[in-house]
Amino acid sequence: MKKGPINCINILCLNLYDAYTMPKIVCGIIGCTSDENVVPEVLGGLKRVEYRGYDSAGIVVAVNGRLEVRKGAGRIEDVEKRLKLSSMKGKTGLGHTRWATHGNVSDRNAHPHISCMGEVAVVHNGIIDNYIQLKEELLKRGHKFRSDTDTEVIAHLVEEELKAGRDYLHASLFAFKKLSGQYAVALIFRDMPDLIVGARKDAPLVLGVGKGKNFIASDAIAFIEYTDKAIFLDNMELAEIRPERIRIYRMEDGREVKKSPVQLAWEVADITKKEHAHFTLKEIHEQPLTVRSAFYQDPSKLRDFASSILTAKSVFITGAGTSFHASMLMAYRLRNEARIRSENFLSGEYRQFSQWFEKGTVVVAFSQSGETADVLEAVREAKKKGAMVVSIVNAVGSTLARESDIALPLNCGPEIGVAATKSFTAQVVVSNLVVDTILEMQGSLRNRADEKEGEILSRAVERVLECESQVKELVSMYSNKPDFYFVARGYSYPVALEGALKLKELSYIHAEGMPASELKHGTLALIEEGTPVVAINPSGENHSDTLSNVEEMVARGAHVIGISDEASKQYTHFIMVPKIESKYMPVVEVVPLQLLAYYMAVERENDPDYPRNLAKSVTVK
Ligand code: M6R
Repeated sequence: MKKGPINCINILCLNLYDAYTMPKIVCGIIGCTSDENVVPEVLGGLKRVEYRGYDSAGIVVAVNGRLEVRKGAGRIEDVEKRLKLSSMKGKTGLGHTRWATHGNVSDRNAHPHISCMGEVAVVHNGIIDNYIQLKEELLKRGHKFRSDTDTEVIAHLVEEELKAGRDYLHASLFAFKKLSGQYAVALIFRDMPDLIVGARKDAPLVLGVGKGKNFIASDAIAFIEYTDKAIFLDNMELAEIRPERIRIYRMEDGREVKKSPVQLAWEVADITKKEHAHFTLKEIHEQPLTVRSAFYQDPSKLRDFASSILTAKSVFITGAGTSFHASMLMAYRLRNEARIRSENFLSGEYRQFSQWFEKGTVVVAFSQSGETADVLEAVREAKKKGAMVVSIVNAVGSTLARESDIALPLNCGPEIGVAATKSFTAQVVVSNLVVDTILEMQGSLRNRADEKEGEILSRAVERVLECESQVKELVSMYSNKPDFYFVARGYSYPVALEGALKLKELSYIHAEGMPASELKHGTLALIEEGTPVVAINPSGENHSDTLSNVEEMVARGAHVIGISDEASKQYTHFIMVPKIESKYMPVVEVVPLQLLAYYMAVERENDPDYPRNLAKSVTVK
């Protein structure tokens, strides 16, 4: 197994990043079958995939000739305590963590779901589009439903097929064939207690190959503690998992498919919080490493990516949330340095721009997960109209990566905290590499030394992380404020937007990010005694203008937190960031803002890893 993030890129990056698939529809699945009790494995795995959804959780085990289910609404930890999940025992079991789509958040809608006769248990990640029709048919046939979910139809369908005399595999296969929509499904059976059946269509499923113990999960991080050998199911494949063997079949014709396990390039340390209180804090602190890893790109892919932009008739750049903020930085540099006109749009707003998608157009998509519905819809529309799609994406096995003509990886490893942190800084690095390659092709940039740049950037991030105690002090002063403003100009403006987004999602404090030039057009009316404003104001052409805006705000009572490589007495508080090449300034500027949002959340007793109402991957429109 790898010994650190850099090794993993050098040695096993393909396995790692092909392996690193993210959810289509959020929900987490884990299953294990063994000759011993598997509840610790199922419970542990469930906690690891909690990032995929966290409104309900449950476990089912096949034990003593029955299927025992314990499930309920709430975070896994609460459900575990309330229902004493760890006291369950069984040699085959499934676990599920839910992000509700069909049916409200309630005990009855939590997975697993059981068929009428208690023969089959199912957990599911995805959406069954034709469930209403299937449910009506099943109701007519006398089936009784105990939940409002789309998922439950699967258990009843399998039971019908078993009743018709099919064996477990064929019953599952025939049932799955009736489903339309997206699914990653795992089933266990009362009367076949050493079997798990799994299948996928447009939602990830990976099998873990252990010694006398095999796994199925939405994400390999669920079982990495027990085995680093994995088999990635492809769409429309069905797996038969037993303690001693795994078999895979094509759903189309039932033929067996031979697949060898791949060695995962993760260590348990990659998916644990290590010494940190939360994943978010760990991921913020990983950035000196991850910004360096982002530099490891396949040179020919990088050149193809760059040349597609350079030769395009028109260029569109898109993303959502934090990824959109990173995409703004690329658009800025393309316009200002490469003199390439590029339209930058929020993926969810693609219809404003789609009339210009055509052959010769390039759409550049930014995404951490590669599964964001808004982004996928935008790029699919672009492809339909003949445009080329190139992407910068962390999850190399994701839908976006697979559907792109070229995809460059972020190489920052699994990002588990719902708030994007290290993926943003990696996106800035990768997009800079693309722009630099374009500048090189245009002849305006010579003697690039990416390795040296990576080292310098990594050290700068290490230095800026030293502001942690200063940030904590600011948090103690301003944590009860209802509003925050983030202002900046030019290339730092997306950082202001990112700072506001981080603060909103982690602390639940209202925050706005805007160009400092816009203050006087309205927002200044909201500034009063003690209003906190963060001004991101690097040295350079915009510095003095923004400083004037700072004075205007301070004159009206604002407490301005300056973030810059150049100190000024105008700021109420000041965080010094290292001076580096301007194209990398957003990387160092964003770190204090990530810390601010994180510590604000802690101070206000929010869970920074799992902000309310949100999910890591937004797969609904
Ligand atoms: O996986 P993606 O980068 O496509 O996700 C896009 C946004 O949903 C994401 O950046 C979201 O805004 C984050 N929670 C922000 O921290």
